[in-house]
Amino acid sequence: MDTFECLRKRRDIRSYLKKVVPDEVIKKIIEAGRLAPSAMNLQPWHFIVIKNKETLRELGKFCVSGRFIIDASFAVVVITEPSNKWHEIDGTRAVQNMSLAAWNEGVGTCWIGAIDREKVKERLNIPKSLHILTILPFGYPEEFTVKRKKIRKSPDEVFHWEKF
Ligand SMILES: Cc1cc2nc3c(=O)[nH]c(=O)nc-3n(C[C@H](O)[C@H](O)[C@H](O)COP(=O)(O)O)c2cc1C
Repeated sequence: MDTFECLRKRRDIRSYLKKVVPDEVIKKIIEAGRLAPSAMNLQPWHFIVIKNKETLRELGKFCVSGRFIIDASFAVVVITEPSNKWHEIDGTRAVQNMSLAAWNEGVGTCWIGAIDREKVKERLNIPKSLHILTILPFGYPEEFTVKRKKIRKSPDEVFHWEKF
């Protein structure tokens, strides 16, 4: 897919078809995360892939603003290293890479922000010293979620030329 077309059409997806995303596609998506640029190229991130349905269901209890994770084909827990000053910026670039690579494969995702992070750390053996940036559920989108109107501020509101 053309890069700009991917940017223009990509939506955050919260409803998934009951269709399994193949491992080759999963690997491509996490590889896109691994390839992201980072401050001083320190790559302060880890990615846990969750395919197990029971684990996804359990995570659903902890994802306060993303219960829809239970319907995902798989999820990626994005973990960053707070000892690195830019960990959240770097992790977010990895998330965007994964999101775009997924869309290119016809797969949707959505950032989940409100998470009971301590419970997830406990469940997945994540060291307390690390930060769960987000959990990304992935799956083939339900048709209607793709067709929603994309709402953004107008160019006049956000573009400035030469000065504010
Ligand atoms: C930092 C961040 C946190 C978000 N948290 C949530 C969330 O907890 N639950 C949710 O359903 N969507 C969440 N979203 C998704 C946004 O609501 C979504 O990106 C926005 O509505 C634009 O969606 P669109 O690209 O489909 O138009 C989050 C997005 C970002 C970037």
